[in-house]
Parts: sequence; C-alpha cells; structure tokens
Amino acid sequence: MNTVGFIGSGNIAFALAKSFMKSNLVSEIILSDKNEDRLKLMKENGFAISNNLGVLNCEIVFICVKPNAVNLVLDEIKNHVKDQIIISVAAGISIGEIEKIIPNARIFRVMPNVLSLVNEMSSAYSYNKNCDEQDINIVDALLNDVGFSVHVDEDKIDVVTALSGSSPAYFAYLLKAFIDISIENGLSEEDTKNLISTVLIGTGKYLRDKKKDPDDLINMIKTPNGVTEAGINSMEKEKILEIMKNVFQESVNKCKQIK
Ligand SMILES: NC(=O)c1ccc[n+]([C@@H]2O[C@H](COP(=O)([O-])OP(=O)(O)OC[C@H]3O[C@@H](n4cnc5c(N)ncnc54)[C@H](OP(=O)(O)O)[C@@H]3O)[C@@H](O)[C@H]2O)c1
Repeated sequence: MNTVGFIGSGNIAFALAKSFMKSNLVSEIILSDKNEDRLKLMKENGFAISNNLGVLNCEIVFICVKPNAVNLVLDEIKNHVKDQIIISVAAGISIGEIEKIIPNARIFRVMPNVLSLVNEMSSAYSYNKNCDEQDINIVDALLNDVGFSVHVDEDKIDVVTALSGSSPAYFAYLLKAFIDISIENGLSEEDTKNLISTVLIGTGKYLRDKKKDPDDLINMIKTPNGVTEAGINSMEKEKILEIMKNVFQESVNKCKQIK
C-alpha cells in the first residue's frame, strides 16, 4: 500500500484521485492546490488536503499543474524532495527539464487520461535513471489498477498525449454529430445518448478484447449496397480519414511545441 499525493487538484488530479480511492494499492491520498475552490471540492469528496510541501509526505507525488506552472512547483519543492517518487503528468514537459531542478529525484513522466473516473484509463509512462525496479513495479501496478498502462520510451509520450490523453475529447466531439442528427430524426435525447455511448464502449471492447483491427469490424457490419456501406462511402468521399489524420498530427505537433 502506498500513500499518494497530488500537487494541483484540477481535472486530471481529481480523476486520478477518485480512481485511486478505490485501489487496494493506495492507503492514503492528499491533495493541494492554490485555488481554494478546488480544495473545498476535494474536501467535500472526502480527500485530505494540504499545501504543496505537505503533499511531499506521500511516497508517490503527482505533479498535476498546467505545463507552464511546473517549474514554479519544482522550485518550491526542490529542497524537500528526498525519496519520494515524483510523477509529472504535464503535457510536453520532459524528464530532462524536471531533472534540471530536481536532478537526484526518482522521476516518472506519465500521460494519463480522465477516464480513470470509470476505471478505464489508458496511460503510458517513462522514467529516469534514478528509478529502480521496485519503483517501476509500483508505478506500473498503480496505473494498471485503474485501466491499461504501458512503458514507452520518452520520445513516444507526445504521440500518446494525442492518442489517449486528448482523444476522449475527440471521440466525444464526434459523438455530437451522431447525437444531433439522431435527435433531429426524432429519437429522444436520452435514448440517443444511451445507444451511442454503449456503441462506443462496445467498439472499444471488441477491438481490444478480441484483438481485432478496425477493418475487421467495418467488414463485419458493411454489406454490399447496405446502409453502412453508404455511410462509409460518404466518409470516403468527404475524406474524413485524411481530416482526422490531420487533426491527430496537429495535436502531436502542439505537444512538441510546449517544450
Ligand atoms: N485534463 C486532462 O485530461 C489531462 C490529461 C493528461 C494530462 N494532463 C496534464 O495534467 C496537467 C493538469 O491538467 P488539468 O486539466 O487537470 O488542469 P487544471 O484543471 O487547470 O488543474 C490544475 C490545477 O493546478 C492548480 N495550480 C496551478 N499552479 C499551482 C501551484 N503552484 N500549486 C498548486 N496548485 C497549482 C490550478 O489552480 P488555478 O486554476 O488557480 O491556476 C488548478 O486548480 C496539465 O499539465 C496537463 O497537461 C491533463
């Protein structure tokens, strides 16, 4: 069992803390924030709160502030970091940049997503040379306890940021089209949302659990001259795949620019 702390109690910290609350691997959670409203919310949700230095009493410390606030937090904590595992989730901030301020620390860089709220977080992690096998096992077990996590070389974190950090928002954005048109065609909002979100869950489960490619699923549904084929033809005519590739590449590029 580990004690886990969060510096910054915004969206991602809250999502992680909520999921770790149910984990058998976590004994205590402490959060800090400079925003009093966020701290109040954490307290209302049953979490212990403290200041940034107080969070360092935890064995594992997540830094969950926006990328442009990371250095400020590191400067504040640098003289108090001893044997804690320090995990940054900030997009675009490299382990090397963090090491400039806390060179002797055991540092992980993790790219999580907010779907830890429903125990379906996809995440990837990298670590520095100060981390030993035990550290890696602890972090790997913790992240995999709330979803699926994989170790990647740090130069792959930018693509993971777009692929699984941001993409829940992209899928949610695309769902708005399905929802709008279904409602325009007379289906109730409640039925529409229940149907389409179940489709999304099922699609993910099918591809992941049965280890299938998207084309396997497309070909299973698409029949010659049928409804699905008409939709796929329309997407090909509108070059939806090209558009989405550009969207994805844009977000990878944006992540590289943060550095
Ligand atoms: N949201 C996601 O889905 C997601 C996914 C993957 C990675 N991330 C990464 O997670 C980090 C946080 O994102 P977020 O969406 O959770 O942001 P957020 O909701 O804005 O949360 C950040 C929180 O940190 C507080 N804060 C700022 N400076 C601080 C300081 N010096 N000490 C203590 N608290 C401080 C902020 O307070 P104020 O609002 O008063 O500034 C805010 O409450 C980012 O670096 C992002 O790249 C986010």
